[in-house]
Amino acid sequence: MSLHRLLGFRCAVADPARLGAYYAELGLTGDLGSGYTGSDGGAVVIVDQAPFRRLVAIDIGCDNDRDLDAIEQRLEERGARPTRESESVTVLDAATRVQITVRVAEPESINSPVDLVTPNVPGAVVRMNERAPAVFGAPRPPRRLGHLVLGSPDLRATRDLLVEGIGCKVSDEVDGVIHFLRCSTDHHNIGLVHSHVPILQHYSWECDDLDHVGHTATALYRRDPSSHAWGLGRHFAGSNFYWYLRDPAGAFLELYSDLDRITDDVAWQQHGRTPMSLEHTINTWGPNLPTEFVIPADLAELEAGWASLGS
Ligand SMILES: [Fe+2]
Repeated sequence: MSLHRLLGFRCAVADPARLGAYYAELGLTGDLGSGYTGSDGGAVVIVDQAPFRRLVAIDIGCDNDRDLDAIEQRLEERGARPTRESESVTVLDAATRVQITVRVAEPESINSPVDLVTPNVPGAVVRMNERAPAVFGAPRPPRRLGHLVLGSPDLRATRDLLVEGIGCKVSDEVDGVIHFLRCSTDHHNIGLVHSHVPILQHYSWECDDLDHVGHTATALYRRDPSSHAWGLGRHFAGSNFYWYLRDPAGAFLELYSDLDRITDDVAWQQHGRTPMSLEHTINTWGPNLPTEFVIPADLAELEAGWASLGS
C-alpha cells in the first residue's frame, strides 16, 4: 500500500506539563519539545497548549512522491484544497478541524520480539513445579503508538476524506456508528466515532502481550486508582486485548496487545472480515462500556471551547 505507517499525532491540552509527567510515569521516551514515543520509537505524540483539549493533527507516512501526487489529485477532485510541499500533502478535515498530513517516510522499524512463554493449558502442561515467569514481571514502556480514535460531528465526511481522499483502507465499520481505518498493516490506525464536538476519544499503545498490558496498566492504576476507565477486555474489531486509563487531560489512553494484522487485502475481505454488527462494536468480552466513552465527562467544557472558536 502506498500509505504504510502512522507517524503520529499532535494534540493540545490545557496543561501539557501534567500530561508530560504522566507520559514519563508510563515510561514513554521524549519530552514536550520532541514529542513522546514508545520503546520502539516510531509514531510520536506531540503535545501543545490550548484552552481546551483537542486533536490538532494526524501524520501519516507514504512511500514516495507518486503517492503524494495521487493523494493531492484525489483531494482536489473531491473539492478539498490540499497544500502540497516537496515531501508532503496536507489537508484540513472541515468536520473536526484536524489537519491531516501525508509525508514520504521510511518504513517503521520494530525492535526484536520478546520471547513469549507458552502457558499451561488443560491437556498441554508445559510448566511444572515452578511459577509462571510473568508473575515476576514489572511495568515497562509500551512498544509503540498504534492508533487513535477521533470523534467527528460529521462522521461520514471525515470517513470519506480519509478513505477516498487520503487513501486509508477500511478494515471494519458499522455505518454511522464506528469506522476502523488503517494506513499500515495494523487493523486500525485511525478509528472514527460520532461526537457532538471534535474530540480525541482515545489513543493506544501496543504492548508485547497481555502480561505487559497488565503490569503496565496496573502500575498506572495503583498510582491513581481513579484513572482506571475500562478493561480488562478483548475487542471484536481488531481482536486486541485492552485496558483503558484516563489521562490527566481527559482522553482515554489504551494499552493493548494481539491486534489483527492485514497484509493481504483480499484475504482479509474474504476470510478475516466477518460481518460486524452493533453488538460487536463494544467488545467480545469484558466489562460494559462506561457511559463516559460515549458522553465525555468534560463535554460541557469542550462544547464551550469549540463555541468560543466560532465557525
Ligand atoms: Fe483502541
